[in-house]
Amino acid sequence: MTADDPRTVRLADYQPYSHLLDRVELTFHLHPTATRVQARLHLAPNPAARAGQDLRLDGEDLRLISCAIDGQAVAAAVDATGLTLAAAHLPQAAFVLETEVEIAPEGNFALEGLYMSNGMYCTQCEAQGFRKITYYPDRPDVMARFRVRIESDLPVLLSNGNPVGQGAGWAEWDDPWPKPSYLFALVAGDLRAHPGQFTTMEGRDVGLNIWVRPGDEGRCAWGMTALKASMAWDERVYGRAYDLDIFNIVAVDDFNMGAMENKGLNIFNSKAVLASSDTATDDDFARVEAIIAHEYFHNWTGNRITCRDWFQLCLKEGLTVFRDQQFSGDLRSHAVKRIEDVLMLRARQFREDGGPLAHAVRPDSFVEINNFYTATVYEKGAEVIGMLKRLVGDADYARALDLYFDRHDGQAATIEDWLRVFEDTTGRDLSQFKRWYTEAGTPVVSVTEDWADGVYTLTLAQTNPATPGQAVKGAKVIPVAVGLLNPNGDEVVPTTVLELTEAKQSFEFKGLASRPVASILRGFSAPVILERTVPASERAFLLAHDTDSFNRWEAGRALAKDVLARMIVDGAAPSADLLDGLARVAFDDALEPAFRALALRLPGEDDMAATLYAAGHVPDPAAIYRARRALHLALAHHLAAGLPGLELACRVPGSFSPDAKAAGLRALRLVALGFLARLDGGAQARAAYRAADNMTESFGSLAILLDIGEGRAELADFAAKWQGDRLVLDKWFAVQVGTATPERVADVVRDLTQRADFDWKNPNRFRAVIGALSGNHAGFHHASGESYALLADWLIKLDAKNPQTASRMSTAFESWPRYDVDRQAMMRGALQRIMATPGLSRDLSEMVGRMLA
Ligand code: ARG
Ligand code: ZN
Repeated sequence: MTADDPRTVRLADYQPYSHLLDRVELTFHLHPTATRVQARLHLAPNPAARAGQDLRLDGEDLRLISCAIDGQAVAAAVDATGLTLAAAHLPQAAFVLETEVEIAPEGNFALEGLYMSNGMYCTQCEAQGFRKITYYPDRPDVMARFRVRIESDLPVLLSNGNPVGQGAGWAEWDDPWPKPSYLFALVAGDLRAHPGQFTTMEGRDVGLNIWVRPGDEGRCAWGMTALKASMAWDERVYGRAYDLDIFNIVAVDDFNMGAMENKGLNIFNSKAVLASSDTATDDDFARVEAIIAHEYFHNWTGNRITCRDWFQLCLKEGLTVFRDQQFSGDLRSHAVKRIEDVLMLRARQFREDGGPLAHAVRPDSFVEINNFYTATVYEKGAEVIGMLKRLVGDADYARALDLYFDRHDGQAATIEDWLRVFEDTTGRDLSQFKRWYTEAGTPVVSVTEDWADGVYTLTLAQTNPATPGQAVKGAKVIPVAVGLLNPNGDEVVPTTVLELTEAKQSFEFKGLASRPVASILRGFSAPVILERTVPASERAFLLAHDTDSFNRWEAGRALAKDVLARMIVDGAAPSADLLDGLARVAFDDALEPAFRALALRLPGEDDMAATLYAAGHVPDPAAIYRARRALHLALAHHLAAGLPGLELACRVPGSFSPDAKAAGLRALRLVALGFLARLDGGAQARAAYRAADNMTESFGSLAILLDIGEGRAELADFAAKWQGDRLVLDKWFAVQVGTATPERVADVVRDLTQRADFDWKNPNRFRAVIGALSGNHAGFHHASGESYALLADWLIKLDAKNPQTASRMSTAFESWPRYDVDRQAMMRGALQRIMATPGLSRDLSEMVGRMLA
């Protein structure tokens, strides 16, 4: 896919580093425009590498002041990407390389390396940001012990590891655990701590802190609760304890991603850690909990065992996502969590896997590694581990993980190492399974059934579609969890895992009294597309009776998609099967409220566009928009009699608690209010907005009002109340764009971006407006092409300051092949205009190039 680009880095070219690096001493003299960084690297020739090599250090945007070996100045050849010391100057035994450089954190808007956010110094080094701090072998297989001295007048000075000394204007930190440079972190600022304490199962007393800007202290309690829960969970479930005396988390307003697992000093986007009932929704609370857990879990899966090279990124990310999903399921509801995860997987990963940006979970080439922090590496990477666990069973999974930690602790490992622990534990040959890591694309599994003489035969066939650079691929190992129900709804064959390993295979079930109804791919046991024509009555039957909660939800979802597709393509009316089936779920008090809320959420517009495209249609965004709203209205009428009672029953008594049960009730109440608004012009939603004592309900009812074209007064009220609050104001921006009609959305975005508080260099604010534009399907794809052009303009503008965020947001265009020729031409035109921009970043040019290929 990146075959012709001279900047391409390839897995096949991996070589060990020429030298071993044992210890690093860094001294920072912080200054906004002239920070000095002194580095002492304790190096020795690497016996495992080819002898006699030059010493090459990575470095970008650094001003070299001095360079010496064992105290003697030495001539270094400096170029745009690093520094070289000729082999002739290098000692044959251990030596110390000292450098001093100057950098300017204040002008760093890329938010990579050392930068400033609201007067605070902070760092982001993954994947290759450390080279913007000092000359260094900036690669994950070079692991060293770091000692850091920070000199600054700012009151709080933090780095990795344990504090070893501090005085007026300085602090020193020592990290006893060898680590790659991408896990380095430094923070300096006027910060306040929300403290906590945890005693590990090994008896270590750990001091915990969440550091925030003055004024945010009241939004830390939830994050601290989540951190302690994560520490306890990793001990209980994986037997992994924390390994330093202190664990610090810092909230930063300007951050490209969610958070970063730097050793002992996690740095978070403030959106991913701050939460209070008045400012955060239930979804925010759940996300904070999951991200805190994710970053904490990295301490073992990522930090103690890291990646040999960036092609192995899924080794730490897939596993850590899998672990955070398990954690959230344990703390909340496995059924609901699985549905949410699959919704996300389909919306982002299937979309990626089916378009021009498709790549393997372990890619074998890249131009800019930041472009591979994707749903495929993260979420599909987690799915692959879920399949492995299902195939080997829980007990062997646990044994394999113990072996993984024993064998690879302190190492930089590969996917081959990971698979070998499973092979050694179970005796299984995983060479075919490995295709999940090396081959891109979502397999399609088609199903045919046969019933004769009391034998039910299920035939499964898989096809693996071509993806960029991978025309032909082999059959995958696909675990298909199946259960059979008899016609009165009793389960006659409980969940069984069928292993599909060939292109086509049949599985027989004998001794059945009557033809069963099959529930296939229970729990979404593999990240595949199930292709099957099922009569509406059978879907309705499973929606009513399936004992597997995921497939019960899935049956309703599939039914809704079938109905919507017919409404869009043939102008059909919504079917009674769907309306009655959803009504039963809506009012079934035996079901979890959160599950009911999910079942009543209609398939999204982008999802419908993908579904129609897969079925051979050219999706019309305007028709999808109209049909989805028509179905919502039809459902509102159908449910009308029960809605007031449902809305009342879902009011949570007492003071606010963010727990999953209360959150589920609020979610279902908002679904009811959304339907009611279609019938009463928003009267009840308006009342709910006024009465709300928490952000979930005030923001939720505001969104409902805007969605029906009401709510101007509430919008103004919300703005007045929250004008000083960056995170809440992001919601205010986003909801206006998200709910704008297709005709109006470009104007809404233009108005919002002209406001003084549209700080486009802040990634959260940029995403709130420009990200919401591409999230508004019918608006983004409006036939005028205005939104395409608007997005292109903003990507070009942002790229000059922040390539990473610009590049990530360019994926809005990845779905261009789905649409009609006019839209395709406009989207490609927008991409070509971006491509023609002088000085385009490596990040954005790689992405745009792949989309245009
Ligand atoms: N390792 C971080 C996480 O997933 C993500 C940071 C990636 N940042 C980046 N600029 N690529 O927890
Ligand atoms: Zn991660």
